[in-house]
Amino acid sequence: MIDPVDLAGTKLLVTGATGQVGAPVAERLAETAEVWAIARFSDPAAQDRLERAGVRCERVDLESSDFEELPHDFDYVLDFAVAKTNDFDRDLRANGEALGLLMRHCAGARAFLHCSSTAVYEPDGHRAFVETDPLGDNHRPFGFMPTYSIAKISAEVVARYAARAYDLPTTIARLSVPYGDNFGWPLFHLALMRAGKPVPVHTNSPSVYNPIHLDDIVGSLGSLLAAASVPATIVNWAGDEQVSIEEWCAYLAEITGNSVSFGPTAHTIESVACDITKFRSIAGPCTVHWREGLRRLVAAQGLLTEA
Ligand SMILES: NC(=O)c1ccc[n+]([C@@H]2O[C@H](COP(=O)([O-])OP(=O)(O)OC[C@H]3O[C@@H](n4cnc5c(N)ncnc54)[C@H](OP(=O)(O)O)[C@@H]3O)[C@@H](O)[C@H]2O)c1
Repeated sequence: MIDPVDLAGTKLLVTGATGQVGAPVAERLAETAEVWAIARFSDPAAQDRLERAGVRCERVDLESSDFEELPHDFDYVLDFAVAKTNDFDRDLRANGEALGLLMRHCAGARAFLHCSSTAVYEPDGHRAFVETDPLGDNHRPFGFMPTYSIAKISAEVVARYAARAYDLPTTIARLSVPYGDNFGWPLFHLALMRAGKPVPVHTNSPSVYNPIHLDDIVGSLGSLLAAASVPATIVNWAGDEQVSIEEWCAYLAEITGNSVSFGPTAHTIESVACDITKFRSIAGPCTVHWREGLRRLVAAQGLLTEA
């Protein structure tokens, strides 16, 4: 495990700070650090919540900004923004071009963390992907996120380029399935179950991922930043256990008293299990077992029926 950098008292820039992952991360970091957040803040309630947590919010549109309105003196940058307009030109501009401009603007930072996704891997059944495995259009069969995988791969290329061009230590962390008390794929599945709707799973069953709890996402930030390098460090950002949608939905059903049905289809994301050897060598083991994390999620939603 690498000694983590201490983020307390540092000046941080968090992009995508109104998002599912970026918002709770920014709020937690603001407990000990000076956190600046950028987004369009199209939802004023999201900005209000961040500001109440002590986060400084600056309105920035990645499609048009050159970031000159922002200071240059951030110690670390945590990039959680992602544009999903389904328009290739707009999404490559916001996810790719803007990332390069931001890294140029923040070239004096001690390290830059770009959040990528395991959606960059070429589907390959139940293989546990290592960082050097082939990349591909993982989300294409999903149908309604046609730009996602290609935009995430493009963003990685920009981050790799900018790390070298600006001599900016960078980590590209490929997030698996993030979740917390109030967000994540399992919560979406729980909503489907409660509505009596089938949960989509891939026909090549089971549909396996490495869910990672918010505690472990936040807990690994210091280590991931400490591992930043030129050329960029690339690492899976994933929980310790491989768990299938089928398995976590069965557990959600058990502790909420709901029933679950599955809708096998080829038009959904196939398994993306991860090899976590490299992530463990950087950040050590995770702290929240998936069952404990899901139990906390269900309790936070007021839906726990099992003692
Ligand atoms: N959620 C998952 O299951 C998952 C899984 C694997 C990897 N990831 C990765 O985790 C990171 C965070 O994902 P997420 O699920 O939290 O995303 P999200 O909920 O969709 O949030 C996206 C964020 O990006 C901002 N954004 C989008 N377009 C923008 C623009 N044009 N200008 C400025 N900001 C813009 C949004 O803010 P405004 O709308 O307010 O501008 C929002 O804060 C991403 O890199 C994603 O690829 C997520």
